[in-house]
Amino acid sequence: MNIKNKKLFILLKEIFIKHKLNSQHAEISAKALINAEIVGAYGHGLSRLKMYCDRIKKKVINPNPKIKIKKISQSISHIDADNSIGFVAADIAIKKAIENAKKTGIGLVAVKNSGHYGLSGYYAEQAVKKNLITMIYTNAPPAIAPHGASKSLFGTNPICFGTPTNSKVPFIFDSSISMINRGKIRFASKNNQKLPVGVALDKFGKSTTDANKALKGVQLPIAGFRGSGLAWMVDILSGVLTGGNHSGRVKDPFEDFTGPQNIGHLFITFKTNLFVKDYNKRIKDNIKRVKRLPKVKGIKEIMYPGQNKYKRYKMNFKKEIKISKIIKKELEILKY
Ligand SMILES: NC(=O)c1ccc[n+]([C@@H]2O[C@H](COP(=O)([O-])OP(=O)(O)OC[C@H]3O[C@@H](n4cnc5c(N)ncnc54)[C@H](O)[C@@H]3O)[C@@H](O)[C@H]2O)c1
Repeated sequence: MNIKNKKLFILLKEIFIKHKLNSQHAEISAKALINAEIVGAYGHGLSRLKMYCDRIKKKVINPNPKIKIKKISQSISHIDADNSIGFVAADIAIKKAIENAKKTGIGLVAVKNSGHYGLSGYYAEQAVKKNLITMIYTNAPPAIAPHGASKSLFGTNPICFGTPTNSKVPFIFDSSISMINRGKIRFASKNNQKLPVGVALDKFGKSTTDANKALKGVQLPIAGFRGSGLAWMVDILSGVLTGGNHSGRVKDPFEDFTGPQNIGHLFITFKTNLFVKDYNKRIKDNIKRVKRLPKVKGIKEIMYPGQNKYKRYKMNFKKEIKISKIIKKELEILKY
């Protein structure tokens, strides 16, 4: 890691410790924020630090959680995260899901009483590194109107799938079910940037490129009613099933400090050789056949999901993370 980024990591860790997280939890949280910056997911990086600290101060994130892991079977675990910062709950959950899958072939871990954990792909990478396939779901505060409704209720509820590829670069499909993720809208609002056309409506139902109006209105799901259906599926899997909040009850972390978010997550991990002995060969063949297709004009390479992020990570890993003036100011305030 770039030496300046290491310094930034130490600063973030100190800020979290100052906000009463223990050293291990502070380290997990700082690492996740640094990773988001390196992969270019700025809406899930430093721009959220103040929000986490504010939530700890207002006692709606518990800095000293008593996290309980209930064993349901060798494969299945249920975690009550006691309103910990989401990074910590997710870190424990993915490690447990990996452990269960290594023992039995499949790991299923549900989490309740958690908070915003950042990028699903960050946890998927951990499972894929251990040669497991993984599917990860989390719900999020209302941002999208269910198909046919005029009021938002579903979150941008990302869907994540990861698999080893028999190469250095994992296949990680990790996508919000909204046209763009909410973090990007918040980032645009903070930095006075316009949104692309067709991603949000204002509170009167009119298309808008103004990030502030979009935050007060609704975001549009991918592919109309299909995206709305996927958002609903994620809400059921990560909220209804786990004991977490669901159906619009997850609080907005930036705006609603009346209580913890009680977000739910679901982590599924399984071995690649459950049904075939030659998965590595088969996945390689699968990717090769797609990549060999004739390309449309302007496309140099057909990429699989995760390839772009891997390239960005490699490119940015040694570069210094750029910190905007606004974030610099926030860091100054948060460290004292
Ligand atoms: N915790 C939360 O509440 C929450 C909510 C929403 C999103 N998120 C996170 O935000 C992150 C960003 O989400 P997003 O929707 O902006 O993702 P995105 O639009 O950047 O990417 C979506 C997927 O498409 C793939 N992709 C992108 N360009 C591609 C190309 N040219 N060819 C092939 N594949 C390509 C990416 O690898 C990725 O898997 C995700 O990590 C997600 O988990 C978190």
